[in-house]
Amino acid sequence: MPKTTVRGIEVAYTDEGAGAPVVLLHGFPFNRSMWREQVGLLRGTHRVIAPDLRGHGDTGVAADGPATMEDMAEDVAALLDQLGIQRAILGALSMGGYVTFAFYRRHPHRVRALVLADTRSQSDADEARVNREKSARQALDEGMGVIAEQMIPKLFAPATLAERPEVVGRVREMIEGTNPAGAAAALRGMAVRKDQTEFLADILAPTLVMVGSEDTVTPPKDAELLHREIRGSRLVTIEGTGHVSNIERSAEFNQALADFLRALEP
Ligand code: MLT
Repeated sequence: MPKTTVRGIEVAYTDEGAGAPVVLLHGFPFNRSMWREQVGLLRGTHRVIAPDLRGHGDTGVAADGPATMEDMAEDVAALLDQLGIQRAILGALSMGGYVTFAFYRRHPHRVRALVLADTRSQSDADEARVNREKSARQALDEGMGVIAEQMIPKLFAPATLAERPEVVGRVREMIEGTNPAGAAAALRGMAVRKDQTEFLADILAPTLVMVGSEDTVTPPKDAELLHREIRGSRLVTIEGTGHVSNIERSAEFNQALADFLRALEP
């Protein structure tokens, strides 16, 4: 597994395949392994980079303070600099989407196209901010098991929860494997993230928005808002899936991704 030091943090990342670069940014509190099926799809046609964002997976965590979406976006920009990649297609799920908005605002010329899955442009309401801090404290005091217990029921479509223990187990393992300090920093970073809704009209990159029809964390109405505001964007709803649509229905997710990438001009 490649690792490099970026902005003072050791960053682990996947780098496979050759061709136009695609960068995949995972959700909270997951890691780059969530993209396994997408890396499998894309490495035949693209160079796929999937970093563990700061505080997640095998990437280090900064000493203290929140890990803001801008911090994570700058980590990605610096990693791409090191890898000699000037411009890339950015694909992201949930928190990865928040990071992607921060990246696009700072480096629009580096973005060839966007894939925004199960994410939203709105910032947290006051109550959600309070809950983030509660979860951050819990992660630090009690560990990630309790975070997994709270999150798992919300992450999947009911049928997935009931009938696909291997899918649920894979996600549980990612959550439980996350460094509590990294999770707390990301929770505090998400709590202070900017509302990006006003900025959506400025996005000029070709954009695919995807959402699970049963996503209750970032529901279809959030995806519809992205689709409405991002000019020329395409919206794909993946039926029968919750928040982690790329894992729950990887074949349908990959089909939409492949169709979108094929339609991009070289
Ligand atoms: C994620 O999947 O990244 C998180 O659920 C996003 C969030 O908590 O806002």
